[in-house]
Amino acid sequence: MSLLLLSFLLIIPILLLLRRKRKPSKRVPPGSLGIPVVGQSLGLLRAMRANTAEKWVQERINKYGPISKLSLFGKPTVLIHGQAANKFIFSGGGNAIANQQTQSIKMILGDRNLLELTGEDHSRVRGALVPFLKPESLKRYVGKMDEEVRKHLEMHWQGKQQIKVLPLMKTLTFNIICSLLFGVERGKQRDQFLDSFQEMIQGMWSVPINVPFTRYNRSLRASARIQNILKEIVQKKKIELKQNAASARQDLISFLLGMVDEDGKQVMSEKEIFHNIKLVMVAGHDTSAVLITFIIRLLANEPAIYAAVLQEQEEIAKGKLSGEALTWEDLSKMKYTWRVAMETIRMFPPIFGGFRKAATDIEYDGYFIPKGWQVSETLVCVFLYP
Ligand SMILES: *[C@@H]1O[C@H](CO)[C@@H](O)[C@H](O)[C@H]1NC(C)=O
Repeated sequence: MSLLLLSFLLIIPILLLLRRKRKPSKRVPPGSLGIPVVGQSLGLLRAMRANTAEKWVQERINKYGPISKLSLFGKPTVLIHGQAANKFIFSGGGNAIANQQTQSIKMILGDRNLLELTGEDHSRVRGALVPFLKPESLKRYVGKMDEEVRKHLEMHWQGKQQIKVLPLMKTLTFNIICSLLFGVERGKQRDQFLDSFQEMIQGMWSVPINVPFTRYNRSLRASARIQNILKEIVQKKKIELKQNAASARQDLISFLLGMVDEDGKQVMSEKEIFHNIKLVMVAGHDTSAVLITFIIRLLANEPAIYAAVLQEQEEIAKGKLSGEALTWEDLSKMKYTWRVAMETIRMFPPIFGGFRKAATDIEYDGYFIPKGWQVSETLVCVFLYP
């Protein structure tokens, strides 16, 4: 045996030893990435549709522990679970965790939506949206919301033997959003809008494969239709604003169009307006509808809570003329009702998990999460699917 070969053979174990020593922490979490692109997405989606996503996640945790790797919606993903994990994620993981949604959400809402922006763009767009959405500004819309709720009850609840709460709450929140954000009143345009909107939402949790007949493709097409409707609305509002027929305060679109910087330039581009209006619609719609549904379920199952809420509401109603609209002051008197809502949201968070991106290589709980991977945290898992 040549000396060279011998020394080579001797060196191999040393190299191996060194390698193992040098990278003790480069251990990625347990679990398999599954088949390319699709990974475990279909299993999760099936569970979501069967309303068993919580069980699906729990089974993974039983099998692999609170941290595991998998592949969801086209990207390698690390699922982390538990209080410490939530704290890590929501404190930004020391700048290691960046905002980023799944590819499907990014493409459906548009890449200029707030959840995709960073740095100065993020501050500018956030700064434009927040003044409209904070409570002081929403005060003036209480009467409008009240009107929508009354019409809704008349149309869908009164005289009915049986109703399905979740789909109706989705209709109600959609109508309120249309009225507040766009000033689009009842009618054909709103109905078309609703159909496209529902189709768009269905693809938000999907594998981003853009070929005909996939949910993702249908959702992208619906998103394009919505953007066309928004374009029409924006054109109309622009003319109204020019003719002073509209107030910049009357709805979110007018508000954003009317917002200019010192040089008289519109703060948000039109594309940014479209993408962020879609974001606000989606963000407000499902979460509110799910929360109200759980509140109604609680009221149906807990007679004592129902009685206390009813009493508070009746007290407020006593002080009003029949048909008189609800006011902000009335809302501030709903202290018990508000607590019921807050407790419901605590027990049943309407969002069962979320995605972030590893902005740098991350070490978490003894594991290594490579830069660019999707980090998905699960909160308490409750999921309602239409
Ligand atoms: C849907 O798929 C077809 C065929 O691949 C494609 O031509 C079309 O652009 C897709 N739609 C969208 C909105 O991306």
